[in-house]
Amino acid sequence: MGLKFDFNNMLSFSVGGHGVSQEDINEILPCAQAASTHLKKIIASPEARVKLNLEWVKLPEQDKEQIAEIKNLGLKIAKKYENVLFLGIGGSYLGLKAAQDAMCAPYYNEFKSSRKKLPRIYFEGNNLDPDTLQVLLKSLNPKKTFVVVISKSGETTETKAAFILVEAWLKKTVGAKYGRQVLAITDPESGSLRKKVIEGQRKDVLSFRSLPLLKGVGGRFSEFNMGLLHLAIVGVNIEKLFSGAKDMFARCSQGDILRNPAYMYALLHTILYQKKAKSLAILMPFSQTLKSTADWYVQLLAESLGKKYHRKISVSKDGLENWMANKEELFNRGRTPISAAGTNDLHSIQQNNVEGENNKVVTFIRVEKFKTDLKIPVKFDSSATRSINPEQERGSDFLSGKSFSQLMQLAQEATEWALVSQNRPNCAIIMPEVNAYNWGALLFFFEMATAFEGELFNVNAFDQPGVEGYKNYMYYKLGKPGIPQEVAEEIKNKPLIKDPKYIL
Ligand code: PA5
Repeated sequence: MGLKFDFNNMLSFSVGGHGVSQEDINEILPCAQAASTHLKKIIASPEARVKLNLEWVKLPEQDKEQIAEIKNLGLKIAKKYENVLFLGIGGSYLGLKAAQDAMCAPYYNEFKSSRKKLPRIYFEGNNLDPDTLQVLLKSLNPKKTFVVVISKSGETTETKAAFILVEAWLKKTVGAKYGRQVLAITDPESGSLRKKVIEGQRKDVLSFRSLPLLKGVGGRFSEFNMGLLHLAIVGVNIEKLFSGAKDMFARCSQGDILRNPAYMYALLHTILYQKKAKSLAILMPFSQTLKSTADWYVQLLAESLGKKYHRKISVSKDGLENWMANKEELFNRGRTPISAAGTNDLHSIQQNNVEGENNKVVTFIRVEKFKTDLKIPVKFDSSATRSINPEQERGSDFLSGKSFSQLMQLAQEATEWALVSQNRPNCAIIMPEVNAYNWGALLFFFEMATAFEGELFNVNAFDQPGVEGYKNYMYYKLGKPGIPQEVAEEIKNKPLIKDPKYIL
């Protein structure tokens, strides 16, 4: 069966007036039905999928030969190099990191036995903090390091800046043919990274190899495209991953919304947001290896659904839709995602979840079977607590014979209970175990849910215009050409106020 979505604790019979009632569901159903029909229509049209950035739904069906080539390349890189350095940010980083932590052994880089002689993996270009990249440039051997630079646009400052340094670092030690140790994943036609690939290959055909990003696949929906080489290098079973995603797609394509896990996830969260003011979305996997998957989801939800304007749909002559921002009216809505992890965050955010404002929905990911387990010995040495009071002595033994996975699952159940006891809505995604099949299904579940929620809210879930603000400001200050005149004027005329009176 794979993943299950348990939403008992989102309903009013569990959490009273803070939960969703049957009337709430009945009320939203016509709108949900229309949203489902609309999404189905777009998904059925190859042209519409590409134009409106929904081509990601087809990624699990990618050409088998192309996948075999990527796997081959990954294998060659893994055999030849001690380290692989990935440069990328946002959608060009978070999916890879999530996959790395979910499907590779914990402490992968630290222990050869954990990584089964595969290369160490490093992620950079996801920050402008000089301290982290510096360490890698000082410590890694350039001759033993392969670099994969990922940027769809090829223009992102963080990745671009890191790549300039990494390129110089490689060139200095490796020499003129350093480009043979570089692979770029970028737009097939445009951007300065694509230009670099073309120029590099003109000089030396073996250098600056590249893999294209497919059209109609936005960064945060692209793990099954831009993440493939990484998965191949670290030996993840891509077929199983795709098979999990495909099965989830089939489950999320059937007509009955009430039986559709991803659509129900979106629908219930929408009701709780719109009618019960639950504006915070906390994703709390009870698995350390899924913490980065929660970070990936933060980007997915925030960039897709936190929007200033509604979507305005028009239809062009070819019958395809155009989506524009409806600037006639401000929307400024979107649930705020927060990533957490059980059980660590039971000793931090959980206090607020239970007793702070009742404005959140917690989603747990509950893992049914861990890859390994640890058992606490039945007769552990309790001499330190030995006492003349037998009752007290028995009490000190309460962990005896218990396994970590048993305690983990109990902690998750206990957290649900603690929330329900205070009428705090929550839900759980139940994952039989963390493997390629289930992880593929999990990503697809969230992607389908996000696309559907975009439909329910009538926003464009596939752009991120709000990210441009900081970029424009930086470009203006750095003197990058091409900033629209009105944006430059706004930055010039409305500088930040830094009155020392208000700085203590
Ligand atoms: O989801 C998105 O499209 C963004 O988050 C991008 O992935 C991110 O901004 C990085 O962009 P690029 O791949 O062009 O460097």
